[in-house]
Amino acid sequence: MKTRVLRVDSRCPDVGLIREAAGIIKRGGLVAFPTETVYGLGADALDADAVLAVFEAKKRPLDNPPIVHIGGASDVRRLVVEVPSKARVLMRRFWPGPLTLIFKRSKVVPDVTVAGLDTVAVRMPRHEVALGLIRESGCPIAAPSANLAGRPSPTSAMHVLCDLDGRVDAVLDGGSTLVGVESTVLDLTVDPPEVLRPGGTCVESLRLVLGRVAVSAVADADHALPVRVARSPGLKYRHYAPDAEVVVVEGELGRVVDKIKKLVSSHRQKACRVGVLCTDESFGFYEADVVKSVGSRGDPSDIARNLFRLLREFDSDGVDVVLAEGLPVDGLGLAVMNRLRKAAGYNIVKV
Ligand code: TXA
Ligand code: MG
Repeated sequence: MKTRVLRVDSRCPDVGLIREAAGIIKRGGLVAFPTETVYGLGADALDADAVLAVFEAKKRPLDNPPIVHIGGASDVRRLVVEVPSKARVLMRRFWPGPLTLIFKRSKVVPDVTVAGLDTVAVRMPRHEVALGLIRESGCPIAAPSANLAGRPSPTSAMHVLCDLDGRVDAVLDGGSTLVGVESTVLDLTVDPPEVLRPGGTCVESLRLVLGRVAVSAVADADHALPVRVARSPGLKYRHYAPDAEVVVVEGELGRVVDKIKKLVSSHRQKACRVGVLCTDESFGFYEADVVKSVGSRGDPSDIARNLFRLLREFDSDGVDVVLAEGLPVDGLGLAVMNRLRKAAGYNIVKV
């Protein structure tokens, strides 16, 4: 299969190109497209064969369902049994945006789209290309992140092509994504509502609207949990990982820097190529084969935007190990640390 690249303006995409991509979706094909979080790999959510093809292209285990993307809040109604009042409040406040809500699903949704669960994950993305594609396709679009399973999520069309060139029909290239980490997944079928995956909408803002919000133990991801606890199926797999081994060092910054310096020398004695993932504040302290700053500690949204790209870059740099600084877990920091800890396969050193 030859993958077509359709370059579009992310603010004001060419309608002709969006229609071309929508034509592929309508015929049961696969189109990768930008959202405000990361690129998604889309198919008609109501076409079981098309959704199955998404799993195959990504080499994704069949028990991990994708998110169903809609073009308007009212489109949620046919996909679910009921829209609870809390959902209505959240939809008004956070849609379009990086918040995925879990509902009891209706019969319209094929089994494969929800991996046989009785719930469905739905979100309305805040991106003109995504919304245009959904509306022109005339169907909800099932879209997991457009990476090979286990790899860092793609924040540019180039990342998508690295993983999926020749495996999907087309990529809508709308440039780099704004948020950089995936949407927050919130389960509304339990009381209090529970965050299953921290993401672009922070827990603090959900609490301002809802009051009580639980955060699942898997959302912290500071250690591996038994599979039965991982209620969001995707959370039980190693994820977001570059080919290099990743170690996260967490604690007070001064001690983190000292520990990473020691680890750099011990790895270099073993003739490893070592990368360090740090912040602007500590960049000057390190000497290693590759040192990259993910951004300033004072700007968590910049850190979120850069994280996945830098994890991929370490692979192009050919490092064997990445030593990463832990970051504070407030606001967007929780999503960033969840991704980093999982990229490390829970290889976490506390100092
Ligand atoms: O920002 C995002 O959410 C991106 C863009 C493309 O929208 N999408 C994305 O999809 O990250 P994916 O498939 O990579 O992650 C979906 C997450 C997985 O952790 C999956 O297990 C969980 O949502 N999920 C999907 N359906 C679920 C359900 N019914 N119950 C619990 N978790 C569910
Ligand atoms: Mg994913």
